[in-house]
Amino acid sequence: MMNPLRVVIITTVVAFFVIISNAQPLPPARPDGFVYTNVGRVDPNPVAIEAFLDPVCPDSRDSWAPLKLAMSHYGSRVSLLVHLLPLPYHDNAYVASRSLHIANLLNSSSTFPLLEQFFKYQDKFYNDQTKNLSKAFIVKEVIDFATLAVGNSLQPQFQAAFSDIRTDLKTRMSFEFSTSRGIYGAPGFIVNGFVLPGVGSPIDYNGWRKIIDPLVAMKRM
Ligand SMILES: *[C@@H]1O[C@H](CO)[C@@H](O)[C@H](O)[C@H]1NC(C)=O
Ligand SMILES: *[C@@H]1O[C@H](CO)[C@@H](O)[C@H](O)[C@H]1NC(C)=O
Repeated sequence: MMNPLRVVIITTVVAFFVIISNAQPLPPARPDGFVYTNVGRVDPNPVAIEAFLDPVCPDSRDSWAPLKLAMSHYGSRVSLLVHLLPLPYHDNAYVASRSLHIANLLNSSSTFPLLEQFFKYQDKFYNDQTKNLSKAFIVKEVIDFATLAVGNSLQPQFQAAFSDIRTDLKTRMSFEFSTSRGIYGAPGFIVNGFVLPGVGSPIDYNGWRKIIDPLVAMKRM
């Protein structure tokens, strides 16, 4: 989703993060993003898709199923790296994104199941119905929710990770990374380093076929 007021808000927020990040010059220990494991053999030179998603954004949710379908169609000819872009105007986007970073640290195979769980039960955390709830209550709800995917036995570690500054920094870094690549709305997509137009709108399966088919054909030349 994207409108002019939001662009102004995001630009302001980005300027703020740029100022903050000047005080923090070290690069992260690992590059941002979650690698989606696709079917098939590993191609040494796949078409590289990067998706920028907000777990509580309805348009990001709507973009996920067609993207997965395209991934299974192309198999090893494509790769997918998912970056989180917690949008400042989506309530709870930051907490949800932080929980995904924690899931990825504690049990990496729960990362995509948890992302899909957020998409499936998005209404639970999206805007109006959470308006009267305290931040502490929402964090507790998110921990219980995420534990379903990550594993019950990891609940104490999961809770502790929410007080660990490093998971906060990772989440901020995702936001800074996405905006530094020129992506200011979700969903956004970069293919082979090229930002696809239409940031903020989902791409359907036929849309993906139109984008990827020519690239896969060209690679054969
Ligand atoms: C939030 O609180 C206000 C004021 O008490 C109430 O009018 C409103 O219905 C509540 N909203 C929700 C979603 O519970
Ligand atoms: C890790 O997550 C996967 C996927 O949700 C789950 O099947 C597995 O049981 C989890 N591992 C632990 C130790 O709970």
